[in-house]
Amino acid sequence: MTTRDKDFTASSGGGPGGAADAGERNLAPATQSPHAPAARGQAVGASRFHESARAQVAGAATYIDDIPELRGTLHAAPILSTVAHGKLRGVDARAALALPGVRGVVLAQDIPGDPILATFVHDEPIFAIDTVQHIGQVVGVIVADSAMAARRAARQVKLDIEPLPATLDVRAAHAAKSYVLPPVVVRRGEPEAALQGSKHVLQGQLEVGGQEHFYLEGQIAYAIPREQGQWHIHSSTQHPGEVQHWVAHALHLENNAVTVECRRMGGGFGGKETQAGHMAVWAALAAHKLRRPVKLRMDRDDDFMVTGKRHPFAYDWQVGFDDTGRITALQLDMLANCGFSADLSGPVADRAIFHTDNAYFLSDVVISSYRCKTNTQSHTAYRGFGGPQGVIVIEAILGDIARALGLDPLDVRKRNLYGIDERNVTHYQMKVEDNILHPLIDTLEQSSNYRQRREAVAAWNARSPVIKRGIAITPVKFGISFTATFFNQAGALVHVFTDGSVQLNHGGTEMGQGLHTKIMQVVADELGVPFERVRCTATETGKVPNASATAASSGTDLNGRAAQFAARNIRDNLAAFVAGLDGCGAGAIRFRDGQIISPKQSRAFDDVVKLAYANRIQLWSDGFYRTPKIHYDKTTLTGRPFYYFSYGAACSEVAIDTLTGESRVLAVDILHDVGTSINPAIDIGQIEGGFIQGMGWLTTEQLVWNEQGKLTTHAPSTYKIPATGDVPAHFRVDLWPEANREDNVGGSKAVGEPPFMLGISVWEAIRDAVASTGPAGQAVKLTAPATAENVLRALRGGQLD
Ligand code: MTE
Ligand code: HPA
Ligand code: MOS
Repeated sequence: MTTRDKDFTASSGGGPGGAADAGERNLAPATQSPHAPAARGQAVGASRFHESARAQVAGAATYIDDIPELRGTLHAAPILSTVAHGKLRGVDARAALALPGVRGVVLAQDIPGDPILATFVHDEPIFAIDTVQHIGQVVGVIVADSAMAARRAARQVKLDIEPLPATLDVRAAHAAKSYVLPPVVVRRGEPEAALQGSKHVLQGQLEVGGQEHFYLEGQIAYAIPREQGQWHIHSSTQHPGEVQHWVAHALHLENNAVTVECRRMGGGFGGKETQAGHMAVWAALAAHKLRRPVKLRMDRDDDFMVTGKRHPFAYDWQVGFDDTGRITALQLDMLANCGFSADLSGPVADRAIFHTDNAYFLSDVVISSYRCKTNTQSHTAYRGFGGPQGVIVIEAILGDIARALGLDPLDVRKRNLYGIDERNVTHYQMKVEDNILHPLIDTLEQSSNYRQRREAVAAWNARSPVIKRGIAITPVKFGISFTATFFNQAGALVHVFTDGSVQLNHGGTEMGQGLHTKIMQVVADELGVPFERVRCTATETGKVPNASATAASSGTDLNGRAAQFAARNIRDNLAAFVAGLDGCGAGAIRFRDGQIISPKQSRAFDDVVKLAYANRIQLWSDGFYRTPKIHYDKTTLTGRPFYYFSYGAACSEVAIDTLTGESRVLAVDILHDVGTSINPAIDIGQIEGGFIQGMGWLTTEQLVWNEQGKLTTHAPSTYKIPATGDVPAHFRVDLWPEANREDNVGGSKAVGEPPFMLGISVWEAIRDAVASTGPAGQAVKLTAPATAENVLRALRGGQLD
């Protein structure tokens, strides 16, 4: 008994007493654990079904709008500004309030706490106060017995607005020095001198559009007042902890009075990283005023009008290069259209700077990043988080260099790749240590038959007068970690119940990406139990506090490790217990196939759990993880912002119709790096989905604001996301067969965002097809997205009359 107690104390550290040093304990590399890490079990590495797949297909998976409503629940609908910029002189809700079923109106003056949202920059009013700053800005909400009654009434509210000049264009905003945050400049070497000394110089401009998230489940929140000033908020959010903070701040409460819960989202794609907080705050304020539970479910058109999108970007660049196409100098101005407030624009624009190199070494470079303020929706996180806006410009430049020199763009790209022993430090001073670009691209070049197909494309174009083809391979190198270092932490809770079943909770949210499934696999293997014994419960601020957003693709890396550590603590407790029974060292105990195996005896996991419970052994634990090695200087943007890089490359072949400008993607081959996959089916799904979403951004998804600043493409009728018919007939995805070189959960790599940027190969292939119609050496001026109109413009050298 004494031995067992001693062993137990030495190996556990779990539970409330051990919580204070949990970080240090869990930061120890797995090999220093008192027990060997779990042998690679049966759950990790298998293509398990998504934990909710069957329920989702059967319509039995609960989204927030499916939660049975409490008696007395009311519904809110937003009142939207109809002017892009103006003085808000008055709000007349009398006609709305007179309508049947309408219960009230909630405006800025009804906010008990701070009328400004608790965002980092603190520049965004909850409801417009005395000015409106974009068409669609929320001035207040109408509350009624039904969502329809609230929506109808909201349209009857009369706003007295005195119009002011509006800034709608990003270049005009830059010219007027209208910014949401100060500019940031990153420089290395002597770009001006290097440009002077370059053999060739090209310059250009590029405009790249934004993107609507188009999650299937629109934004929604359900705010429920509870006893003694407490609140329960159901929110479709990627960041429950932030929603908790915002709601508490608006209601003038402490965070401990607010619990936020999210079982799943019907997609987020970054659009629910901050934007979900607005619905929750509006619903909570309405619930506070009317003393009733309030649900706010955005109508799709309102969702389009109110919420931010991917940042549209504009660029001015000058590049120097040698005869082989190798870049010798780069000067780049990047203008991010941030909309009316900062939101996440700072880190988004930073990440664009961090990804302007994509896969390429830039010796002498200066990047000036301007965070422009316009009278439009406040643009926000979207898959890639500024990375795509960095990658596309360097890919555009390399395509232009290749055409100017009459070289194959793939050869030019290869010549510019980061080296292994030299040319391996990024413009932000991070050494690229895990570079697999060369073999990865070579492998794809072979497997996709790029060279033969390039010839076949040329032969096709020689005999086809109207339909022209193009082909391109583009790589991606994407930095994994939140650039705000402190976000790279996570917590988890694992409970083993007395019947041996396992319940998992962690700080990450499920938005369809399969996060819960992957973490269930990790926990199952850590405890050596079948996958089916593990369940994952709703994300809740009361279970794992202060969790970061599920974003930056790092959901599995962070929460998976935290959950692994939590499960490891329980395993250690059980191992010590069994070692005490069998008189062996705890390190000799194995957990596999639902059995706990000592050198003496194999016992069922469930039996040991029952016995351990009877002996008062702790059967649950927390786990905490923080990413090692990362650091960086926020002012100069130098250091090691990323733990590692994820890599990939895509080969896309397209056809364009030179009479109509229409395009079609014919064939796509992808080779992508997910390290050792925790769940290949889910990872491949992420790669396919990410690629198609990237393709949509650059082809059919066009946001059009009219001269008054109104977004005119605010419904599926006018905003075209890819449909199943747009998936290329040939669409092959292969996984790179190498583990993460950094110590990451299961040897895996993050997968959520990097494949998005592979869609750039489609845009480059379209430019290749356009180039085939003009004289050799002529630049292709294609604005993104490559809609039929923009392709026609490019075919006519930039003009369309
Ligand atoms: N996949 C699905 N099905 N739905 C989503 O909303 N969001 C993407 C990506 N894949 C998303 C998705 C984005 S923007 C990110 S950052 C990651 O998933 C977040 O989840 P992860 O960190 O668990 O990969
Ligand atoms: N990625 C995604 N979301 C974020 C980041 C990031 O780097 N930083 C803050 N939110
Ligand atoms: Mo993803 S844009 O980091 O939510």
